[in-house]
Amino acid sequence: MQEMNKEQLKNMFRLDGKVAIVTGGAGSLGEGTAEGLALHGADVVVTGRTLATLEKSVEKIKAAGGRGLAIVCDVTNEEQVKSMVEQTVKEFGKIDILVTVAGIAKRFPAEDFPVEEFQKVMESNVTGTFIPCKIVGQVMKEQGFGKIITVSSVRAYAGHPGGYAAYGTSKAAVALLTKQLATEWAKYNINVNSVAPTIFWTPLTKEVLEDEKLKNIFLSRIPMGRAALVQDMVGTVVYLSSAASDFITGQVIYVDGGCTAG
Ligand SMILES: NC(=O)c1ccc[n+]([C@@H]2O[C@H](COP(=O)([O-])OP(=O)(O)OC[C@H]3O[C@@H](n4cnc5c(N)ncnc54)[C@H](O)[C@@H]3O)[C@@H](O)[C@H]2O)c1
Repeated sequence: MQEMNKEQLKNMFRLDGKVAIVTGGAGSLGEGTAEGLALHGADVVVTGRTLATLEKSVEKIKAAGGRGLAIVCDVTNEEQVKSMVEQTVKEFGKIDILVTVAGIAKRFPAEDFPVEEFQKVMESNVTGTFIPCKIVGQVMKEQGFGKIITVSSVRAYAGHPGGYAAYGTSKAAVALLTKQLATEWAKYNINVNSVAPTIFWTPLTKEVLEDEKLKNIFLSRIPMGRAALVQDMVGTVVYLSSAASDFITGQVIYVDGGCTAG
């Protein structure tokens, strides 16, 4: 039996010296994820479309003890993503972790779903996940290591009467993209996994929260009886970013209070 290194075991969740990129870094979950990674030792680059909205995240990263940097970038624009990745490597020398949090949600009954709105969701959530993975994947391949964490949703697992034809479909695509990249990039020592949460009360889900009937449908489907909290997501992202998950790849981890269990 192989002797285990106690120091390594003790520190297997630490991220000291790691460099992370979080897309959608000004959003509710992006900001929390960036702060959580920094609290565990990482330096974090947050990206989004507006510099001003990213500054709060940078402050939180710095207060948590990490180096923080905001870079403007639309995740659906390959040139902007390339430039963001180049700036990150220039500033920090490498990329250990990519978390693709940027995303949007639009809900309409399927029979009335405007096609252009459907396409916007697919573009933001699927193409906007693929492009950062592709460009950061090139750097990670060269380095010979890396951890990529995509953000899917419980809506990838099952349908819902609340108008999720585009959102659910896009998040199912993210889940499959995660498995696809995991199988292609395992040989480069790149782990690709996905966090698939149930509902959080953030601006993205404001209209669900404001609709008492819909809100109750959501909560009744969660055995633990509550919405997700940012820390529920952070814990899973930190695990998937750390050495503790070195043999885990291609997995979609539902952070859902048991929602998909039954
Ligand atoms: N809130 C929930 O209940 C929930 C549940 C499951 C999964 N998710 C997923 O978690 C992620 C974050 O959700 P949130 O609740 O923090 O939403 P949010 O709206 O607070 O944050 C999303 C961020 O992504 C950014 N973004 C969107 N399109 C972009 C683009 N093209 N380029 C750059 N940035 C872009 C937005 O500007 C925003 O800052 C999303 O992918 C969402 O689908 C959320």
